Amino acid sequence: MAQWEALVDAALASLAARRLLFNTRLIALAPPPPPAETFAGPEAWDRATVEVQDCLLCPTGFSANTAVMTALGSISSLLAAGRKPAEDERIAIFSDALNHAATIDGIRLVERQQEAVAFVYKHCDMSHLDFLLSSCSLERKVVVTDRHAHGTLLCGENGGGVPELYGCENDVDICLGSLSKGVGCQGGFVACSTRWKRLILSRGRSFIFSTALPVPVVASVNAAIYVSKEEIWRRSVIWEHVQYFASLTKLNITSPIIVVVVGSEEAAVNAHRHLLRSGFLVQPIRPPVVPPNSSRLRITLSAAHSSDDIKRLVDALTPWLPNNHVEQSYSASSRL
Ligand SMILES: Cc1ncc(COP(=O)(O)O)c(C=O)c1O
Repeated sequence: MAQWEALVDAALASLAARRLLFNTRLIALAPPPPPAETFAGPEAWDRATVEVQDCLLCPTGFSANTAVMTALGSISSLLAAGRKPAEDERIAIFSDALNHAATIDGIRLVERQQEAVAFVYKHCDMSHLDFLLSSCSLERKVVVTDRHAHGTLLCGENGGGVPELYGCENDVDICLGSLSKGVGCQGGFVACSTRWKRLILSRGRSFIFSTALPVPVVASVNAAIYVSKEEIWRRSVIWEHVQYFASLTKLNITSPIIVVVVGSEEAAVNAHRHLLRSGFLVQPIRPPVVPPNSSRLRITLSAAHSSDDIKRLVDALTPWLPNNHVEQSYSASSRL
């Protein structure tokens, strides 16, 4: 990362020299008022306890992903100052085959601007990644892989997501995610160092050319984070539901976002309608989001559900429960 910090510093210096650095206005949010006796009372946010230096809010998780990728790619053109980066100055991006469409679109953009070269490695295949890395002669290399967007506030003791679950939070330099999943609101975040934030502010196209999140949405995100800290039982309840669902269906699931592949679009829509009549909103996911004939149902368990809800859901779902369940394969359509 030290090498990247030096590159970002040089890119920022180039932006500053050309008076191209953008600034944003900070908003100060009061802690949300305690809605019920549940809270002991809001405490002032202690910034010193936050390990990342800074954070940028984007209109969506999608735009957070593309903003980071385009800012990253822009380093080579900034350093080339006014000329196209030479072949060997470009950034090599190694992307997992099943990365989300947002990451892929960001990579496509920087590739199109001839600022980076992308290499796609087979999903989670470290030997393939290793092979591609060692055969690449470019000096500036970045590996990009999704770490479960739904994990924020859900995985890890403190809701720190998959990095906390696997104890590798300290290895994460830039943490980006969506506020539309576990946080239950809208938007995307990029938690990073101040210098990376400045670069994204100035070069992250999807951030720059889009309206900022409305303050009430930011306030609801603030409230959701507050609730997640105060009501940690919600995390335990969700994971209990996951276990209960798994025990009833015998499916090997590890997430409250459960995918049941049903095949045709018609089958997915029929299942969706049947479940709706039974009182459950389960979205059918169809092409082009997933490949043809792999339409699926996406079930989202929440702490607001009861065990009885889970049991009734499984009963209603029984005709569509497959033997060949494919977990988390909903991003299959994101291939480059
Ligand atoms: C890895 C990843 N990034 C981004 C998104 C999109 O997030 P948003 O809906 O906030 O735009 C998703 C949605 O599934 C995702 O899985």
